[in-house]
Amino acid sequence: MNHEAERYERLFLIISGLFLVGFLIVLAYTSIHMGVMLPGKVGVIEAKAGESLAAAVFRTPPFDHLGVKKIGPDDYEAVYFAQAWAFFPREIDLPVGARVKFIATSVDVTHGFFIAGTRVNMMLLPGQISEETYTFRKAGKYLLLCHEYCGLLHQTMHAWVIVK
Ligand code: CUA
Repeated sequence: MNHEAERYERLFLIISGLFLVGFLIVLAYTSIHMGVMLPGKVGVIEAKAGESLAAAVFRTPPFDHLGVKKIGPDDYEAVYFAQAWAFFPREIDLPVGARVKFIATSVDVTHGFFIAGTRVNMMLLPGQISEETYTFRKAGKYLLLCHEYCGLLHQTMHAWVIVK
């Protein structure tokens, strides 16, 4: 091999290496700095043969009883499912000071679960259960938004959390 070919080969390796390092930096930045990550594996719902994912979700507790449940003096559970392009329940009511564990999943594609003005920010993967707990210290009408692109009417996908 002549020297010139060797030089090009080395240059090619260096450029490829730089691309790899660049991608890793972007990945590290988005996952650590921006907090983009998969939800902790709380649980996975699997459909039986011939069963739709939606049917599997609706027969699996706690998704067989959607909505808010009081589980302690200030403790609540709020169970949701997401389906293009809505959240169910569409609206929940909570008292000020409620500590709420949001439990949610998707029955079709990947959706987001973001409550504006709070740090509730989850990704809902089909059949995977996501959980996050938050205490509402201020009264208000909180907008629950889908912040993962999920198709044609993604931008209309929302629900309300009413705290009073
Ligand atoms: Cu659901 Cu975007």
